[in-house]
Amino acid sequence: MTAEKRVLLIVSGGIAAYKTLELIRRLRERGISVRCVLTAGGAQFVTPLSLSALSEDKVYTEIFSLTDESEMGHIRLSREADLLVVAPASADIMARMAGGLANDLATTVLLATDKPVMFAPAMNVRMWEHAATQANIATLESRGLIRIGPDAGNMACGEYGLGRMSEPMTIVEAIETHFAETHFAGPGARPLAGRRALVTSGPTREAIDPVRYLSNHSSGKQGHAIAAALAGLGAETSLITGPVALPDPAGVSVVHVESAADMLAACQAALPADVAVCAAAVSDWRIAAAASEKLKKDGDGPPALELTENPDILRTLSQAENRRPGLVVGFAAETEKVVEHAIEKRQRKGCDWILANDVSPETGTFGGDSNVIHFVHGDGVEDWPRMTKQEVAERLAQRIAAHMGGAE
Ligand SMILES: Cc1cc2nc3c(=O)[nH]c(=O)nc-3n(C[C@H](O)[C@H](O)[C@H](O)COP(=O)(O)O)c2cc1C
Repeated sequence: MTAEKRVLLIVSGGIAAYKTLELIRRLRERGISVRCVLTAGGAQFVTPLSLSALSEDKVYTEIFSLTDESEMGHIRLSREADLLVVAPASADIMARMAGGLANDLATTVLLATDKPVMFAPAMNVRMWEHAATQANIATLESRGLIRIGPDAGNMACGEYGLGRMSEPMTIVEAIETHFAETHFAGPGARPLAGRRALVTSGPTREAIDPVRYLSNHSSGKQGHAIAAALAGLGAETSLITGPVALPDPAGVSVVHVESAADMLAACQAALPADVAVCAAAVSDWRIAAAASEKLKKDGDGPPALELTENPDILRTLSQAENRRPGLVVGFAAETEKVVEHAIEKRQRKGCDWILANDVSPETGTFGGDSNVIHFVHGDGVEDWPRMTKQEVAERLAQRIAAHMGGAE
């Protein structure tokens, strides 16, 4: 799928530039062509000769080179690529990109391009944490540039923290996934045709008595958007939803349930499925013995409500002996240590991917229209920029399609 794809790789000035040599090898092994632009800073760390030998192409360094400009102008460098990748992305080049500068060949190409741009930051932890760097990153992400990493770890400068460039294979995977997603993203593409998807959405309600219940603030917006996105890519989609104030998405078969027990039963009835996405906020507990008549205020004080654990739908689907969906995706709504808890949850439940989000009231995630996702999978964690729930759904659906198409 990635054959004949072309990457324009911009190498800027950081110690991690040595890892970029490995990145070029891995891309070339996969049949992806690589052409390099080297900044003046970058040239202090790797030589044009190394880049040229590995990429099997000329390396471009100068904006005002008469020969280069006549043979391969800066506009053509961008035009002849499918994707621009800045790796390593130094603090300096990111600042210049955010500011719209075009004072060398790399930044001129980056300003002149209409192609997607990925960047893999690499720097000392304090440079990374600096408000200026963080503001530049936010600007770049708000313009749709795709960030890979950085990772935390020991640094060449002897310090520890966030700022290490992602490993070459992580960048390769991000590039391959990008190509797979854009390959599928053509108008009318239905890469999930013939696949069955199961999605849960919304809250559950656990009866206290016939008129009262325990529940949570889930609006169902994210789960419903995922069901619609999967159906849009051609999957035969079942949506099992708790009570929400949303219309049923078009082209999706919808089952309305109230409690966690009902939701589990409906999920099991919807199997087999190729993929299950558990986006519902299922109540962890229910009332051990819900009253069959309305509880009365009888002057003896409030009733003592005993709770008992609900079935764990994500775990049950992930660990189903016979009918485990090929890909099981869960959500982790957390209010603290979001990524840590999600990594632990993925292992405990046995699911394949977790989309973790911060649902602290100040984030406005519950009921709001946007979400900040940390995508936890077997090989690590990807921090997605703030996106609308619709965009999260589309990105996840494309990712599922890429996975099922064997691109990951
Ligand atoms: C030994 C050494 C290592 C450096 N490592 C980094 C680095 O990892 N990340 C970074 O952003 N800047 C690093 N710098 C600073 C950049 O090289 C400097 O800001 C340069 O102007 C960046 O050029 P560029 O815009 O072409 O990337 C380093 C400088 C030195 C001398």
